Amino acid sequence: MPDYAAAAGAYLRSTLPFQPRVAVVLGSGLGQMIDELSDATSIAFKQVPGFPPAGVAGHAGKFVTGRLAGTEVLFQAGRYHLYEGHSADVVAAPVRAMAALGVRTIVFTNAAGGVRPTLEPGDIVMLEDHINLQARSPLVGPVQEGEERFPDMSAPYDPELRLLAVEAAAELGIGLQSGVYAGVLGPSYETAAEVRMIGKLGADVVGMSTVPEVIAARARGVRCLAFSVVTNKATGLGGGSLSHAEVVAVGREAGQRLGRLLRAVIPRLPQSGLTK
Ligand code: HPA
Repeated sequence: MPDYAAAAGAYLRSTLPFQPRVAVVLGSGLGQMIDELSDATSIAFKQVPGFPPAGVAGHAGKFVTGRLAGTEVLFQAGRYHLYEGHSADVVAAPVRAMAALGVRTIVFTNAAGGVRPTLEPGDIVMLEDHINLQARSPLVGPVQEGEERFPDMSAPYDPELRLLAVEAAAELGIGLQSGVYAGVLGPSYETAAEVRMIGKLGADVVGMSTVPEVIAARARGVRCLAFSVVTNKATGLGGGSLSHAEVVAVGREAGQRLGRLLRAVIPRLPQSGLTK
């Protein structure tokens, strides 16, 4: 994919009424947060220059901007996944577009399987780090404008923002765990042997998204915060066989709890943000 981000960012800037500094990527179960925005403006992915045309594997993705509890925020509802056949570059396209627009902080959400045996469906896990088991990176190829060739990954999930989230969760009485996310390609769920391996590698949750997006965000100096909703125990940990329907249903309930947490966290996020 060519260097589309600048054009995509310019398009968003000319179309959106605000210049939000904070964005949230809404994973499964969180789409309803869009309804809470006031003064909402929506742009379908397919309208954005450089994005894959509509009709390519399932994409009702869109950007929606508006005010949440008085704070200007940009939601990315829907995302591209590697398992749909998209390159890591396409998966990272919305994040690069948001960064080019001027977004300095992105909150990622996703559904994940619990690998740490004590995690239960419905738990919310804030990511403290990740392990890339996807064997892809959106940074492979020519360096894009505004990105680093070799970005530091010693603290991809911003410690200061994590502290804000811990404080907000405590005030609201919302249980919040923290852990390491293993990003896998999917789309089949893991085998029990793979889950044992992933646990030994040091991961607490496993999912099929987020990692390429965070890598691209960090290459542009964007601060990241991420939450997994545990929709199921990972294969072999006593949850029986896995069904996508179950994953979706649990995601919806826990998504409402995560939505409450996000409403408290978003207004506390720095509206300027660090660059590199
Ligand atoms: N594995 C990978 N991705 C997932 C899972 C899982 O168990 N649950 C939800 N997304």
